[in-house]
Amino acid sequence: MRLPFMFACPGRIRLFLTFSCCVFITTCFLSSCNPDVVAKKRPKIGLLMETLKEERWQHDRDFFVAKAESLGADVEVAACNNDDNLQIAQAENMMAKGVDILVVVPHNGEICATIVNKAHAQGIRVIAYDRMIRNCDLDLYVSFDNERVGEMQAEYLTNRIPVGNYILIGGAKTDNNALLFRKGQMNVLQPFIDSGKIRIITDQWATDWQASEAMKHVENALTKTTDIQAVVASNDGTAGGVIQALSEKGLAGKVLVSGQDADIAGCQRVVEGTQSMTIYKPIQPLAETAAEASMQIINDQVVEKALKAINNGKIDVPSILLDPVAVDKNNMMETVIASGYQKKEEVYKNVPVEK
Ligand code: BGC
Repeated sequence: MRLPFMFACPGRIRLFLTFSCCVFITTCFLSSCNPDVVAKKRPKIGLLMETLKEERWQHDRDFFVAKAESLGADVEVAACNNDDNLQIAQAENMMAKGVDILVVVPHNGEICATIVNKAHAQGIRVIAYDRMIRNCDLDLYVSFDNERVGEMQAEYLTNRIPVGNYILIGGAKTDNNALLFRKGQMNVLQPFIDSGKIRIITDQWATDWQASEAMKHVENALTKTTDIQAVVASNDGTAGGVIQALSEKGLAGKVLVSGQDADIAGCQRVVEGTQSMTIYKPIQPLAETAAEASMQIINDQVVEKALKAINNGKIDVPSILLDPVAVDKNNMMETVIASGYQKKEEVYKNVPVEK
């Protein structure tokens, strides 16, 4: 019979191996009793997203995960593809796996209150990322000044054509941001409407921010009249649908169209002239701020950047709001491209760079 290696080897080696084993076992035992060593376990963050199909959210995920990992945490990511029940199930699953905090991009800002309530029942805190979660004891909200985004979109269009027929295409009504963008747009448009300078031909919302919905609404509007001066599209995805509908009637580039996100297709349309503007929201600072805040909350530290308080229908939520930037073909270089968010050769793939 073959003896196990330790028993088969000569005496001095056997003594050495036995001693090494004892040292190893004792070290493991002492480490497991030592609170300092136990506390060094890497914290775990659950990042719950609505979708990863739109370009913007892939940037959010990548910047967030990179920063959180550099700060010593592990991140688990899930996307619910616009399914509320799935988003709740994903949250429950992460809680069962022992996440230390949840960072949520809610599909539905009201329904996600359930996630916050369930998390709190287990002592897990929740950050609303980019979109507010309403009517609950949310711990932190990190976003942009979204009402200002809507104002900038409408200001851009009314500064260029202050008289005529406008179409409004809002985003998903289940997204609190879509309501804030519309509020901002109306802050600017209402005086023009009241004085009769601007007429709203169509006022619609795109379910789940779908480009196909935006396209359908504009196609319908164009069956009534093609005398349209501007379309207030709330993001680049829906602007893409709007511009497709306009191009079917030979109107692309002749009607002003707003957007938001500085996604690559949106930026290309801006420099090509079919989309008038986009809003650049610096995603890296947003994601990194949220990752830092996650670590501060996990470590029971003060989130020193949370200087604002935004009411979510139940409480004033400590909030961090970053500033958006309006972009058109004139400042594309010094904003979106200079920051590295999009590459010059990609944005100007189909047209020469303007001086
Ligand atoms: C975000 C926008 C995005 C939209 C659709 C909004 O909540 O603020 O940046 O385009 O959702 O995903």
